[in-house]
Amino acid sequence: MTIDYSDREKSYELYRKGKREGTWDPDEYDLERDREDWESFTEAEQHRFLATCSGFYDGEEDVTRTLAPYMMALDALPNEEMPFDTVQEEMYLAQQVYEEAKHTDLFSRYFETVFDTQETAPYREGGYQEQGYSTDDLYDTADDLLAAIDRGDRTELVYTLGEAYLNYMGIVEAQLARGGYLSFDQMIELKAEEMGRDVVLESFQEAIGKVRQDETRHIENGRWILRQLAEAEPAVVTDVYEPRIEEYVENRLLADPIYDEQPFDGYDQEKIGKQLVQYLQDTVDYIGADRFDRYGDVRATLEERQAAD
Ligand SMILES: [Fe+2]
Ligand SMILES: [Fe+2]
Repeated sequence: MTIDYSDREKSYELYRKGKREGTWDPDEYDLERDREDWESFTEAEQHRFLATCSGFYDGEEDVTRTLAPYMMALDALPNEEMPFDTVQEEMYLAQQVYEEAKHTDLFSRYFETVFDTQETAPYREGGYQEQGYSTDDLYDTADDLLAAIDRGDRTELVYTLGEAYLNYMGIVEAQLARGGYLSFDQMIELKAEEMGRDVVLESFQEAIGKVRQDETRHIENGRWILRQLAEAEPAVVTDVYEPRIEEYVENRLLADPIYDEQPFDGYDQEKIGKQLVQYLQDTVDYIGADRFDRYGDVRATLEERQAAD
C-alpha cells in the first residue's frame, strides 16, 4: 500500500482534521434575517460590501476550477525521491477541492437569496483584479503545471509546483482571502454598532467562520508543502518564492488603497495592512526565514522599500 497509516504526515493529519471539521452545509443557514439586515445597508455600503463578496464568489470558483493540476503534478513527481509523501498530499488536495466547491456553493446561495443577484462584474470594476495578482491568474498557473507535467522534468515540476503553491496558498489564501475576512469583520462590526445591535448578517458571519476554518487548514498545508519543496530544491526559495513575494509586496502592500472612500464610518485599512504584513512574515517563518535573501524580515524590507520610494 502507498499509504502507511503509522507514518502520517502533516497533509494526512490535516485531512483527518478536515473530515471532522468539514461537515458543515451551506444549505443549513437560515438567510431570512440576513435579508432583512441587508435592506438597512445604504446603497454605498451595499456596493462596498458586495465588492469584497464578489471577489470571494469569483475567487472560490477560480480556486475550485484550478486545483486539479496540482494533484496531477504531485503524481508526476518521483515520490521516493521527495522529502514528503506526494500521495498523502494528493489525498489532502482531494478534500480541499471539495471544500472550495462548498465555498462557491455558499456564495452562490447567498448572492441569490440575500443580494438578489448573480452578478459580480459591476462590483469588481476598479477593484483588486486590476491591481496585481488575482484569482483570475490561477488559470495561467494551472496551465503552467500542465505544461510541466508534459515535459516531466523533476526540477521543473518542483519549481512550477513551488510557484503554484505560493500563488494559491501563499498569496490568494494566506494574504488576499484573509485580508477579505478582516474587511468583513470591520464592516459588519461597524454596521452592527451603528444599528445598536450585537451582530448583523449573523448567518453570513457564522458560515464565513466555517470557511475560515477550512482555509486555515489549506494555508497550513500550503506552507508545509512550500517548505518541503524548499527541502527538495533549496534554490526554489530565492529563484521562485522571493520574486513572487516581491511582486505581491509591490502590487498590493506598497500600492495605494483601491477604495478612496469608505462608506463604513471608522473603517481602518491601516490595521488590516499591518495584519497582512504579519501573515506574510508567518509564511516566510514557516518556510524558514534564513532561506530568504531579502524577505527574511518582511517589516524591515518594507520599510527599506518605502524609504527608497
Ligand atoms: Fe475557499
Ligand atoms: Fe481554500
